[in-house]
Parts: sequence; structure tokens; C-alpha cells
Amino acid sequence: MKITVIIISIAIWVSGVSLAFADKPDKAQCPQNRTTPDAPGKYFGLKNPLEPTEKRMKKGEVLYMDTAQPMQCLHCHGARGDGTGELGLQADPPARNFTCAETMKSISDGQMFWAIKNGIEGTAMPAYPDLADWQIWVLIHYVSQFGE
Ligand code: HEC
Repeated sequence: MKITVIIISIAIWVSGVSLAFADKPDKAQCPQNRTTPDAPGKYFGLKNPLEPTEKRMKKGEVLYMDTAQPMQCLHCHGARGDGTGELGLQADPPARNFTCAETMKSISDGQMFWAIKNGIEGTAMPAYPDLADWQIWVLIHYVSQFGE
């Protein structure tokens, strides 16, 4: 009798826990349902002014993985750029999956510049006011190569 109660309690607990996670994706989604507002006009049409040299790609990687403040990109966007960093999938909306060409092809250089510089209000995407413009541009080259 007692054991039945315990088994039923465990079953209820397990289904409760799985329900709590039911609406959270457990892996990168592609295409992603993107509801991000467009950058203001003065940013939207900007094109990356820097050539993606090997040296700049390396600088982008160091910022992405190790040095960008307040928080390095990999914690949300993941070391592989697919949005599966430890905070990336939990976020609502989830972190952008840079490996998803279908979603990324609609996002302009200037849109990314604005998102990184100012953050995206109402989402986990933080602002990076301390990065110099060239650092943002090398980051944009770096995140773009995940889709290739
Ligand atoms: C704390 C989590 C977090 C960190 C750290 C983070 N991001 Fe994001 N990022 C997000 C989320 C969440 C979104 C999706 C927001 C949305 O859907 O509107 C996003 C979206 C983006 C986008 C897409 C913008 C668009 O218009 O779709 C770019 C580009 C981006 N991040 C670059 C970066 C870069 C580069 C870094 C590091 C310098 C970084 N992110 C760090 C959470 C993060």
C-alpha cells in the first residue's frame, strides 16, 4: 500500500518536472522564431567596413570566448555558435543560433552592430557599451563564420 503511494508520488513529480520544461527547447532550433525589432535606420544599412582577415577572426574569437564584458558571448550563444551556451537555451527568447543560415540570412551587418552595442531590450541579450566599433565589427565577422 505504502509503496503504491510512493510510486504514484514519484510519477506525479516526474510528470510535473517534465511539464515545467516542456516549452523550453533542449537543442538549437532552426529556423528560429525571431521577434527582434529592427535596428534604427542609422544602423540598419551599415556594412561591415573591415575585411575578415585571419588576424581579425582571431581577435573576434578571443572577444567571443574570453574577454567581452559584461559577459562573453559563448555563455549564451555557445562555443559552436548554435545558441546552446549554458544560459542560451534557458533564455526566453533563446539566444540566436548563428549556425542557422535560414534565420541569419535576414539579419544585416548593421542590425547585428546595433544589437551588440545596445543590447536587445526585453531579452537576455546584453549591451556592450565598452567595445570599440572595430571590436564589434570583428565579432560580427566571427559570428558570421559559424554559418559557413
Ligand atoms: C546573457 C546571454 C547573452 C550573451 C552573453 C550574449 N547574447 Fe547575443 N543574444 C542573446 C539573446 C537571448 C538573443 C536573441 C534576442 C531576440 O530574440 O531578440 C541574442 C541575439 C544576438 C544577435 C542577433 C540580433 C538579431 O537582430 O537577431 C547577435 C548578432 C548577438 N546576439 C551577438 C552577440 C555577441 C557578439 C555577444 C558577445 C559580445 C552576445 N551576443 C552575447 C543572448 C546573449
